[in-house]
Amino acid sequence: MTGAVHNALNVLLAADPQQKVERVFALDAAWKASHDIGDMEAFLPDDPMRPSRPELVDPAKVPRRRPGSPAGRAALLHAIAHIELNAIDLACDMIARFTYGGSITAHARPDFVSDWISVACDEARHYGMLARRLARIGYGYGDFPAHNGLWEAALATRENVAARLAIAPLVLEARGLDVTPGIIRKLTSMNDSESAAILETIYREEIRHVFIGSRWYHHVAHNELREPESYFKTLVKTYFKGELKPPFNRPARTLAELPESYYAA
Ligand SMILES: [Fe+2]
Ligand SMILES: [Fe+2]
Repeated sequence: MTGAVHNALNVLLAADPQQKVERVFALDAAWKASHDIGDMEAFLPDDPMRPSRPELVDPAKVPRRRPGSPAGRAALLHAIAHIELNAIDLACDMIARFTYGGSITAHARPDFVSDWISVACDEARHYGMLARRLARIGYGYGDFPAHNGLWEAALATRENVAARLAIAPLVLEARGLDVTPGIIRKLTSMNDSESAAILETIYREEIRHVFIGSRWYHHVAHNELREPESYFKTLVKTYFKGELKPPFNRPARTLAELPESYYAA
């Protein structure tokens, strides 16, 4: 056992998805056994290790994900599996990079680590459920090209924990809350109740991720003596390429304690 920060780094350094997932559960087990954060890491990679497939391409070249055909549905599940794999790395990068960043109060660090380990565990399960579902319909992770947009957002905010929290959980994961119910309805209407059930689990758990994002965003804003709402808007303007697009899932965002005034124009 070498501490949570080190174990989170080990997740980033696993290229094989299955190994990445196993290292998340090892990180969780070690944390529950010791609550040892460990020291700051001297070296942190900008990019996590990833398998040689899927090929990463320009977002415009990612195949259309119309769930009407079996291949289209596989492409859709594959795209979500890819997001979940990125989300594992995002949660572990949060721990490895920002636990000692200065904006997290020392006495709050154990809670910070606990929260992001719990998120990493959820993401690892989400990835696993989707990878198994893909296998049951004759596909595997890596079979379709994917894009690297999520990690590029992470790279853009690697120097700034407030920006990372604003963009990753509070813009991108919150966007997931907006679109997932529609995907669930589509899958249900096509009688793919198994995939729909997986997405329902993911949807429920992602509300908690946004809640955790909101919790730590407000902690950091407070410690940096910022007014959280105007700071959030400045961070989004600076670090997020694009607009916050309605329709918003207001009930889910409100449950996650993401105030409406932060995102509604
Ligand atoms: Fe997830
Ligand atoms: Fe998540």
